[in-house]
Amino acid sequence: MNSIAIIGGTGLTSFAGLEIVRKEVVRTPYGTPSAPLTYGQYCGKQIIFLPRHGSRHNIPPHMINYRANLWALHDKGVQDIIAVAAVGGIDAAINPTKVVIPEQIIDYTYGRQQTFFEKDLVSVKHVDFSQPYDARLRQHLLTAGHEASLELFAGGVYGVTQGPRLETAAEIDRLERDGCQVVGMTGMPEAALARELGINYAHCAVAVNWAAGRGEQAITLESIQQCTQQGMIKVRSLLAALMATL
Ligand code: HPA
Repeated sequence: MNSIAIIGGTGLTSFAGLEIVRKEVVRTPYGTPSAPLTYGQYCGKQIIFLPRHGSRHNIPPHMINYRANLWALHDKGVQDIIAVAAVGGIDAAINPTKVVIPEQIIDYTYGRQQTFFEKDLVSVKHVDFSQPYDARLRQHLLTAGHEASLELFAGGVYGVTQGPRLETAAEIDRLERDGCQVVGMTGMPEAALARELGINYAHCAVAVNWAAGRGEQAITLESIQQCTQQGMIKVRSLLAALMATL
């Protein structure tokens, strides 16, 4: 039973170390997911892997079919999702390559299909999203980080922006005033859709740059790529340790 899924983000389009068993093209009432679902064994656990930006990393954050992705995983019996996501660090303690296990979300996105509850309803539905992340999964990630001797940032608010452009320095100042510690583009509506389907969900966010106006240097693609590579080494060791704790 593949009840655990890993959604990969930038830097985790293919999953080294995953022993692939099969791939499955899935269609859902909401369209086609970003990529075929990859079934495999990772550190002794059966998992499903789905790269949210597609197998060729060509689907930008605002064009991802989040509903199809989440529906496909739900349809295959997934109960726990670890969502890996690249972010910019706003908090001074979240330097590039730092891995963060956020505790809260503020959604600044717009125009995305953000709910399953819109048509053919017996009655209007609202889900409790006070705590957007699953406490048990977050704790497993923190324990795994400890076991892998990684210095994680435990907690923090993930501000989700529309993208695909990066923010202005003033926008980051505003996010900071709002209480955000990291900024990324894919956290929503993914987390909320997981909640609507009753799937446990936690983020493993990796800082790949200082957010706009926070670093000494300009944000370049080269430095983002370099930090992504280094950060993903940490993520892989975190996920390996996680498999032993789940
Ligand atoms: N802003 C928004 N999304 C991001 C960033 C950023 O600085 N870095 C990686 N994803």
